[in-house]
Amino acid sequence: MKKEKFTYEKSGVNINAADNFVKFISSISSNNKGKKKFNNIGGFGSISNIPKYFKNPKIVACTDGVGTKIEIANILNKYDTIGIDLVAMSVNDLIVQGARPLLFLDYISINKINLKKLKSILKGIVKGCKISNCELVGGETAEMPGTYEKGKFDIAGFAVGVVDEKKILKKKNIKQNDLILAIPSSGVHSNGYSLVRYVLKNKKINLNNNNFLRKELLKPTKIYVKEVLNLIDNKLINSCANITGGGLEDNIQRVIPDGLVADIDLNKVKTKKIFKWLKKNNIDDKEMLKTFNCGVGFCLSFLLKNINLMLLEKLLQVKIKLNLMVKLTGLKKIKTAVFISGTGSNLKNLIEFSKEKRSPITIDLIISNTSQAKGLQLANRFSIKKKIFDYKNFRNTEKDITALLKKEKIEFICLAGFMKILSNDFIKKFNGKIVNIHPSLLPKYKGLNTHNRAIKNKDKFSGCTVHYVAAKLDSGKIILQKKIKLLIKDNEVSLAKKVLVQEHKLYPAAIMKIFN
Ligand code: GAR
Repeated sequence: MKKEKFTYEKSGVNINAADNFVKFISSISSNNKGKKKFNNIGGFGSISNIPKYFKNPKIVACTDGVGTKIEIANILNKYDTIGIDLVAMSVNDLIVQGARPLLFLDYISINKINLKKLKSILKGIVKGCKISNCELVGGETAEMPGTYEKGKFDIAGFAVGVVDEKKILKKKNIKQNDLILAIPSSGVHSNGYSLVRYVLKNKKINLNNNNFLRKELLKPTKIYVKEVLNLIDNKLINSCANITGGGLEDNIQRVIPDGLVADIDLNKVKTKKIFKWLKKNNIDDKEMLKTFNCGVGFCLSFLLKNINLMLLEKLLQVKIKLNLMVKLTGLKKIKTAVFISGTGSNLKNLIEFSKEKRSPITIDLIISNTSQAKGLQLANRFSIKKKIFDYKNFRNTEKDITALLKKEKIEFICLAGFMKILSNDFIKKFNGKIVNIHPSLLPKYKGLNTHNRAIKNKDKFSGCTVHYVAAKLDSGKIILQKKIKLLIKDNEVSLAKKVLVQEHKLYPAAIMKIFN
């Protein structure tokens, strides 16, 4: 029997096709001869000088892909714009540091080389590089039949830029009362496409039959290089943020110093039709904001007195309304967990308080010792993370709670009708950071049945107390108390009701007191 000869081609890799693609790339790059700064002398890497106009150059490097936007390109069989996305995703990160993009490299891995498809992708990459004023100095195309299914591929990009040390945009440039200007995105850009595709699949939408979505979902990511570098050169901005995965809040927080928060009024954000469409498909606000740019692709921050509005408008080619700008305040909200066991009326009240502008806290986690706690329903209603810990093994449970609090970066704990006594170890770990609301005028009536005892003792007054949690039950330092009249006609139920009304005023007031 004749032995079969094994070849690379038989295994699915076609070197000839790859060579043809390389030739095509070289022809594109030789078309650009006059502008080329990089030489590929040895054939392995590209070499160039760092341009002389940088006095003290620092190199900045970024990499990114376009996520599953490529699957949209696959569905629509249209590949000439995802290359623009690829360049945009890296160069928009570079300019956040103030860097001028110099070079770009791409990597395409594909099931089988398809010249038409690859040329189309490359066309986009070349266009993206042109918009960003950087040079495509090399790339790699890998044919990987064993890794990718038929027709599948992935792309990645790498950008290198240079910034003069003096011009690096640093966190410390940003001060309280600076203003943030939101620059519109072109659309979804290249984030959140797994969620987009999940919606399409669930709603059984055929993209090929939907003009609006077809156009929107392949719209290339806006490249902000020229506008932003112009602003930096004119010393008009002191920082910026590229709004990618994580959304507006997370990305702004990445570039501002600790202790400052962006006071964002979401009503001011001009969203685009595509985000309204996405939201209509059962995606709540919080999910929208952390998954998509929601209409804001880039943010710029300014010192108010430095704003040269006319120049700014000219360079950005947009009309700017100062009153639409976000202000940086000096108050960073404290990440808070609320522990409950019951109805959760105090929890609801704290959540509503946390949404007020004056509130120093955000409620980020709800913990309960029982799945029966009615208040847990609030977690879904307000999109807050919840976790139930049944206290079978006290020590281990507290260990798990501590780990979760750490993971969620919780800085403050409010007990609101939590009917478990915390261990001394736990209290020590969060010393001065746990507060409790208690339905009596402490130190009177520690523990349970407070209203019953007050009525039995024929007290003239009852009330509620917010106090720090200490090792001994209901004995920590008192923060605030509210006294109410106990009437002869009061019974346990009516008194509990009256006290609860006061608790809802007292808890926020105590938190304000603590953090002011
Ligand atoms: C509140 O009255 C609170 O003071 C009390 O449980 C109730 C919880 O109500 N806490 C204690 O007794 C703690 N020792 P809620 O679940 O409706 O907030």
